[in-house]
Amino acid sequence: MRMLLNIFQICFVCLSYSFGEEINLYGDAGEAYAIEVYIGHPHQKFKLLVDTGSTTLALASYARNDSDKYFHANNSSSLYNSGNSIQAAYTQGTWTGFLASDFIQFPSLTDIPEVRSDFALITDSHDFFTKASGWQGLLGLAYMPVGAWGAKSGSVESWLDALDRNVNKPMSFHLKLCGPTSTTNTTHYGYFKVVDDRTPNSNTNKTFRTPVLRQRWYEVGVISIRVMSSVTPKTKEVLVEDKVKDPDEDMCVKLNKVKSIVDSGTTQIKLPDELFGQVVEELKNEFRKSQVLILDEFWNRREAACWPEPQVWTLPWLAIDLLSADADNQYFTLEIPPQNYMLVVGVHNSSDTTGTVSTYCYKLGLDAGGEETVVGYTAMEGLQVTFNRSAGWIGFQTSDCGSNARITGPYNASFSLKSNCQLLKPVAETATSIKAAQWALCAISTIALGVILYLLAPCIKTFFVRRMPRSQQISLSQAALVEEESS
Ligand SMILES: *[C@@H]1O[C@H](CO)[C@@H](O)[C@H](O)[C@H]1NC(C)=O
Ligand SMILES: *[C@@H]1O[C@H](CO)[C@@H](O)[C@H](O)[C@H]1NC(C)=O
Ligand SMILES: *[C@@H]1O[C@H](CO)[C@@H](O)[C@H](O)[C@H]1NC(C)=O
Ligand SMILES: *[C@@H]1O[C@H](CO)[C@@H](O)[C@H](O)[C@H]1NC(C)=O
Ligand SMILES: *[C@@H]1O[C@H](CO)[C@@H](O)[C@H](O)[C@H]1NC(C)=O
Ligand SMILES: *[C@@H]1O[C@H](CO)[C@@H](O)[C@H](O)[C@H]1NC(C)=O
Ligand SMILES: *[C@@H]1O[C@H](CO)[C@@H](O)[C@H](O)[C@H]1NC(C)=O
Ligand SMILES: *[C@@H]1O[C@H](CO)[C@@H](O)[C@H](O)[C@H]1NC(C)=O
Repeated sequence: MRMLLNIFQICFVCLSYSFGEEINLYGDAGEAYAIEVYIGHPHQKFKLLVDTGSTTLALASYARNDSDKYFHANNSSSLYNSGNSIQAAYTQGTWTGFLASDFIQFPSLTDIPEVRSDFALITDSHDFFTKASGWQGLLGLAYMPVGAWGAKSGSVESWLDALDRNVNKPMSFHLKLCGPTSTTNTTHYGYFKVVDDRTPNSNTNKTFRTPVLRQRWYEVGVISIRVMSSVTPKTKEVLVEDKVKDPDEDMCVKLNKVKSIVDSGTTQIKLPDELFGQVVEELKNEFRKSQVLILDEFWNRREAACWPEPQVWTLPWLAIDLLSADADNQYFTLEIPPQNYMLVVGVHNSSDTTGTVSTYCYKLGLDAGGEETVVGYTAMEGLQVTFNRSAGWIGFQTSDCGSNARITGPYNASFSLKSNCQLLKPVAETATSIKAAQWALCAISTIALGVILYLLAPCIKTFFVRRMPRSQQISLSQAALVEEESS
């Protein structure tokens, strides 16, 4: 049986190589990227959000009001349900369920074997699955903090840890997120690939590595976030290595005060409240100089702004400086074009007496994150991001899909960024161990916050589509959009 499986795997491997990479991530506007998964025997097919902001695989196993797609637990002959209940609570949204284990396979990851993994069977939830969500659960890709959940449940393994154990070597993964399919189709797509240390990386562009400072979430050192002054793109191969540029120490201390994480399950780039205010103020001023009118709600209440034609943004780029893994005083810069942070959240056609009217809606890809910094998928689109779990670094490369995001550097500072930005806060190991369960739950809440707060906009307005003078903006909330899409 095992032999047969291996032969099959080998054949699939050659197939996948000869056909090149296969798109295996899709997401609806405003939602993170999801991958297809087979769970249990016989296989049941679902979509899981690919989430580097949590660790536990969690799956709906009951019929919700608006979706009858869920894991039929009693139909899987290989399911082991521990009967131990687990739960997660968020600012908005909760779920409860049981700790279980079953076989997990990703049909698009042809060279990755099916493995038995722990997961959460969600049996009840509140405001967790959104009405329009095309996914039924989460695939957590973050680290399992040391220790156990408690005597009753035993230790809960993530899918990646189960895989590591099964293939007996550390596995890493690449995320290549490409953004919307086209100006008229908001479905975004990308690639998820699980690799070992010997898999050659087909992307030969320079890799800029940032260290994972603490292996719980993917906690990194964000040195600064800036609105870039020059709108015109720089020429590619500017030699900058001989420049010493000192970042703003005050800003980097603020950014990393609690933690900064790289989270594919969160849409926006989230900044501590005060810094968010500053960055948005700068962007607003740049907008005032341009011809495009944008209502204040777009900035302050994070509502969608809509136009009758797709927008081409000639706005400043955002720069995100990350600590380099190569030296204590070094950092590099992710340069994010406006196409990334002006998120397309909906394209609608509707008919009125004068014919078909199209509406193109955008939302700001930045948000206030309380005291935390979250590098959401808005900052990853157009780049290939490698999460090297065992070695503890995240690598960024420019890629062949999506926006023309750039990476520059490395830049040297005249002081140690680790110490001056206070990136070396010790974590009490015992506390980590005892609080393992809470960590996992908190981790999930990070993504849930991202998804839910994003979709449930602060207020619901009626959705009006009228013929507008060119470039005049109409305003509506994402919630209204979701209603529209699902009705
Ligand atoms: C589900 O539908 C029932 C009946 O229509 C309603 O009473 C209940 O509040 C709904 N639950 C949720 C979570 O929307
Ligand atoms: C699973 O349970 C449902 C009802 O709860 C039942 O209709 C179905 O036949 C069961 N399936 C199996 C394989 O036992
Ligand atoms: C349950 O399993 C049977 C085969 O054992 C299959 O025919 C049926 O479609 C399955 N139902 C679901 C909901 O997966
Ligand atoms: C948008 O693109 C996706 C993926 O290519 C496709 O499945 C979907 O049908 C497209 N939707 C529209 C409205 O064209
Ligand atoms: C992970 O990092 C280690 C050390 O830097 C390296 O040897 C290994 O090849 C890396 N793995 C991947 C998949 O990049
Ligand atoms: C930048 O820092 C690195 C590591 O400290 C050092 O090797 C390199 O020579 C420095 N470059 C310049 C131009 O100072
Ligand atoms: C809207 O209409 C345009 C032109 O008629 C068409 O190209 C586009 O695919 C339509 N979009 C949707 C979402 O139906
Ligand atoms: C390398 O990056 C460039 C942009 O800088 C991009 O055009 C190219 O496609 C990338 N190569 C690969 C293999 O992704």
